[in-house]
Amino acid sequence: MTRTIIAIAGASASGKSLFTQTIYNELVNELESGAIAIIEEDAYYKDQSHLPFEHRTQTNYDHPDAFEHDLLRQHLEQLRRGESIEVPTYDYAQHTRSSETRTVIPAKILIIEGILLLSDSALSEEFDIKVFIDTPLDICLLRRMQRDIEQRGRSLPSVVEQYQATVRPMFYQFIEPSKHNADLVVTRGGMNRVAIDIIKSKIKYLLQE
Ligand code: C5P
Ligand code: MG
Repeated sequence: MTRTIIAIAGASASGKSLFTQTIYNELVNELESGAIAIIEEDAYYKDQSHLPFEHRTQTNYDHPDAFEHDLLRQHLEQLRRGESIEVPTYDYAQHTRSSETRTVIPAKILIIEGILLLSDSALSEEFDIKVFIDTPLDICLLRRMQRDIEQRGRSLPSVVEQYQATVRPMFYQFIEPSKHNADLVVTRGGMNRVAIDIIKSKIKYLLQE
């Protein structure tokens, strides 16, 4: 069986997760179970449980070194061979991996979303379709402030400090240049109805093959 791996990259809070979830939710009921699965790059943030909490708050989470991309690559290769994988789970408030894992079966369509997927050339080779979500950075920042405070256990001063120290500079150093590796650039992320429908049609077409 041929499997298709679709990567959805773009800035933090650009709408990658919403874009991916919308496609998944709208397709999942019409498809056979096991046709489509989602993986998050964030699940592959390095385990930092051996470091004190204070140390973990200092990590640059927007640099490729924060991720265990080798493990992600290995997992994608396993899925391609038809093997299930155990995806780590990540705790943003504790800044480290949780003890549980999540089983992902080798679905025919695998969608992976994350900020630095297209900045790593070895990892990029794993993707059949590369999408970059191109949402203006001020919109991303507003969403990130709200989300990180409400859902990821951060304070406003911590969001502001982190944004200036790492999130913004790493965006310009790694994420924005990776846009040129994409096959498709999507404006407005999860709000782009036409782009969502186009990817959905492509997925349905691939599943009929
Ligand atoms: O969902 P999103 O793509 O925004 O997730 C990636 C972001 O999560 C990164 O920009 C990184 O700064 C942030 N992050 C964090 N604290 C962690 C791990 C990731 O703020 N412990
Ligand atoms: Mg996300």
